[in-house]
Amino acid sequence: MPVHDRTEHVAVLRGVSPAIGRCELTYLEREPIVLDRAVSQHAAYATLLRELGLAVLEIPADPVLPDCCFVEDVAVVLDGLAVLTRPGAGSRRGEVAAVEEVLARFRPLAHVEPPATLEGGDVLAVGRTLFVGRSPRTNAAGTDRLRALAEPLGYRVVTVPVIGCLHLKSAVTALDDERVLANAGWIDPTPFRGLEIVPVAPEEPAAANVLRVGGVVVAHPGFPRTLERVVALGYDVRPLDVSEFLKAEAALTCKSLLFRREA
Ligand code: GLY
Repeated sequence: MPVHDRTEHVAVLRGVSPAIGRCELTYLEREPIVLDRAVSQHAAYATLLRELGLAVLEIPADPVLPDCCFVEDVAVVLDGLAVLTRPGAGSRRGEVAAVEEVLARFRPLAHVEPPATLEGGDVLAVGRTLFVGRSPRTNAAGTDRLRALAEPLGYRVVTVPVIGCLHLKSAVTALDDERVLANAGWIDPTPFRGLEIVPVAPEEPAAANVLRVGGVVVAHPGFPRTLERVVALGYDVRPLDVSEFLKAEAALTCKSLLFRREA
């Protein structure tokens, strides 16, 4: 059953690069990524988003940009503005232009200039609050730039130290506007005071990255104990296998930019 109307809600995706096996890795050891399986998992992701009522726009993959399918990192789409980021990983900066071209159809654009770095995987929106990770990929100048752009639009920007993982959203994502799913060992949870923190199962440290689409929670089925916790809270959980992307130090949110169309 759709939860959105495709005339109102958009998902921007980008195809899987044949070079994904050479993706950036920070905390993980390299494991072979099976390209065919990654492409199938990516197609299933696009299909699920369509079924949920999103208009899916897919940018073709670039064979020289291994991480190009992780579009979340190169833009932050706000109400009234799309911020094109400057990824902390130099190898990823070439990903911005193609996403910028698509987002220009939907929002006015703003950019992040050197020495600032910002990756969208470090930006978690919960209502009108943007939690921004201080991570290997996002520096203080990047957060300041986002704050300067977002606060006039009515957002509050809160910095969150990221301790043991790549991006903020490796450690915490939103289940709704009152609850987050988190591995509190990988972040300083103090900034989330006022929200309920649902902990991932301790044996599933990477389980916090789930994709919220309306009232639906899309989650990787390889983290069953965490999924049980989320189901027990009453959420409509849709399992979606992203095992090949976990090997790329990515997961569910990384693979799309979701936003509402504006007039
Ligand atoms: N492979 C995801 C990243 O490191 O950016």
